[in-house]
Amino acid sequence: MSSSKKTSVLFVCLGNICRSPTADGVFQKLVNEAGLTESIEVDSAGTSSWHIGSPPDRRTIQAAKTRNYSLDHLRGRQVMTEDFAAFDYILAMDADNLHELETLKPVNYQGHLGLFLDFSTQQTYREVPDPYHGGESGFNLVLDLVEDACHGLLTHISKK
Ligand code: 4NP
Repeated sequence: MSSSKKTSVLFVCLGNICRSPTADGVFQKLVNEAGLTESIEVDSAGTSSWHIGSPPDRRTIQAAKTRNYSLDHLRGRQVMTEDFAAFDYILAMDADNLHELETLKPVNYQGHLGLFLDFSTQQTYREVPDPYHGGESGFNLVLDLVEDACHGLLTHISKK
């Protein structure tokens, strides 16, 4: 990375208890392992207010734990207009949440607002499917997609 300024990344889903906390924890670990903790800031939020202050869904925590990611410390929050002043990358888990973010985006936002899976190497999924109403396999799919796109995102940011 050429600049001394921190690069900041915000992952956004609907509830901020399943997909975006998973991306937050996976990307933070990758950043730490790359020795970039001081250069890249990571956070997550939801477009809804439903789970403000709540820890991630227990199924999300459990699935992440089996791959050695700890998400217990994370708490839900709702995305706000001020996030556009604070984050260089605002990455939505699906098109509905991207649409919601586009309605909040100030006209002068200079950062990158888009779908998280645009940084993925796989071609099957463009969105991270919401696992909330499904079984364990949905949470493992979230982890598969998130791990892949996190590698792509770190490669992209590191080249800048
Ligand atoms: P997330 O999943 O957007 O990945 O956090 C959901 C969490 C909660 C609900 C829906 C999706 N809900 O309906 O409460």
